[in-house]
Amino acid sequence: MNTIVAVENSDQLHDVEKLAIQIWHEHYTPLIGKEQVEYMLNKFQSVAAMQEQLKQGYLYFLILDNNTPCGYLSVQPRDNNQELFLSKIYVSGDFRGKGIGKKLMQHAISIAKSLPAQKIRLTVNKDNAGSIAAYHKMGFTTTDTAKTDIGNGFYMDDYILELPLH
Ligand SMILES: CC(C)(COP(=O)(O)OP(=O)(O)OC[C@H]1O[C@@H](n2cnc3c(N)ncnc32)[C@H](O)[C@@H]1OP(=O)(O)O)[C@@H](O)C(=O)NCCC(=O)NCCS
Repeated sequence: MNTIVAVENSDQLHDVEKLAIQIWHEHYTPLIGKEQVEYMLNKFQSVAAMQEQLKQGYLYFLILDNNTPCGYLSVQPRDNNQELFLSKIYVSGDFRGKGIGKKLMQHAISIAKSLPAQKIRLTVNKDNAGSIAAYHKMGFTTTDTAKTDIGNGFYMDDYILELPLH
């Protein structure tokens, strides 16, 4: 049984941080290397960084499998609510391929429709082939590329994907 809960307190932020550390090390080290993973975890997924993001309108959600946190989602309404930016969607390795990512995406879609936004936009590392395939199956199309300087000599080299909402 899966339940999606809004992240509102420090214990929940610690649960997200713990998931991020585990998932990002396992998934991103082969793609971008250990140093960049550690830099990005500290910059974007530490409890302190996420507390700042919450102040900037980011919303975080945990998905639980029988009370065990197994994934998380972060979104931010942008462009005067015309767009929902999907900032993070992660499922723990043991729980992938069971429809949990799709449930998180459906949650993002329902938030987007309630705004009402015209589209969901996300960025994904160009080498993250499995996740790109999953996004395409969920209806996204690749619309552009973006190379973002994130400091310390590191870059995010991404595709931009969009899901139009009607
Ligand atoms: C991408 C991710 C969130 C998908 O979550 P998930 O729970 O595994 O996905 P689901 O089981 O809900 O699958 C949704 C659809 O995507 C497809 N899919 C999932 N992973 C896939 C893969 N690696 N390759 C191809 N298709 C895939 C599924 O077959 C399913 O399609 P269907 O509905 O046509 O059957 C998850 O695999 C993940 O966290 N990956 C690693 C971290 C990551 O890269 N996150 C995205 C950062 S931009």
